[in-house]
Amino acid sequence: MEIRIEKTQTPKEKPQDETKLGFGHIFTDHMFIMDYDTGMGWHDARVVPYGDISLSPAAMVLHYGQEIFEGLKAYRTADGSIQFFRPIENFKRMNISAERLVIPEIPVEDALQALHTVVEVDKDWVPHTDGASLYIRPFIFAADPFLGVRPGDKYYFMIIMSPSGAYYSTGLEPVSIYVETKYVRAVRGGMGFTKTGGNYAASLHSQDDAHKLNYSQVLWLDGIEQKYIEEVGSMNIMFVIDGEVVTPQLQGSVLSGITRKSVLELCKKWGIKATERRISIQEVADAYDAGKLDEVFGTGTAAVVSPVGHLRWGDKVMEIGNNKIGKLTQRLYDTMTGMQYGKIPDDMGWIEKL
Ligand SMILES: Cc1ncc(COP(=O)(O)O)c(C=O)c1O
Repeated sequence: MEIRIEKTQTPKEKPQDETKLGFGHIFTDHMFIMDYDTGMGWHDARVVPYGDISLSPAAMVLHYGQEIFEGLKAYRTADGSIQFFRPIENFKRMNISAERLVIPEIPVEDALQALHTVVEVDKDWVPHTDGASLYIRPFIFAADPFLGVRPGDKYYFMIIMSPSGAYYSTGLEPVSIYVETKYVRAVRGGMGFTKTGGNYAASLHSQDDAHKLNYSQVLWLDGIEQKYIEEVGSMNIMFVIDGEVVTPQLQGSVLSGITRKSVLELCKKWGIKATERRISIQEVADAYDAGKLDEVFGTGTAAVVSPVGHLRWGDKVMEIGNNKIGKLTQRLYDTMTGMQYGKIPDDMGWIEKL
């Protein structure tokens, strides 16, 4: 694929204090953009200065939400080089989302080329501080000016990038999670397994309610009986019950997390029993009461692994592992971040150099 590069004449000042980066509100100097038109396919791949785009108020995405996205990071190692963690998985998943939303797929090698090209242009924006990274957001949306409900004929694929601070600035603090029993996020047959904006819009009300009760995130139950565990707002969830790792199986309503997949592969390598199966919230509560709920943690690109210190289900509040990070959670965190920042060798073939 040929990619045209137009560099900015007015580069922005890069943030000086990387401890104050936060997440998702500073953007680099450039972005990738490529058009799709029915009859032409994907065309006109280009890296251009970061800036606003012009869209018709009738653009289909604004009305019917035909949109998908991905989230990954570029990490800087101690020797100054830049690397990605399993980016091929992100672009494979983007095509799975695309198929569900009738969005034209993008060959994985073209998406990877776009990623490498735009990060190369803005490589000085990859933070230097340990734990900080360049967050990368690829996305595709329907842009035709048309108010009928049908798949679009015009799409844009874009990649924007945002230097982001360390998720844990003061060590791995356990999070408090609220089990949502009123609303649901997704049902089997719906779009839960995709990364599409609507799934996140569906989560906002519960997230707001949980915040009001001082819980940082929501744990979703299945959309039919509200008995079985699905996932957290932007993480998959794992339980260590009596030494065995248990995580909900993928049935179409849960996102197939790349961190989840990596944790399962590491457990296999380490000889730790890890099972994907249906697990009810009642089973978790029973394991807790029996003193067998050893660890609970979320998995996702943002946090890598996030220990859960408190889990509230109705009136029951479970404090897990004395609200301290568990041994397996810590080992997984150290191993995956070690590979991402080039501190330990990658013996899984997960790291891709820029
Ligand atoms: C709903 C949801 N579940 C799980 C995840 C974790 O996926 P990954 O490990 O690929 O970041 C994410 C974040 O991408 C998410 O948004």
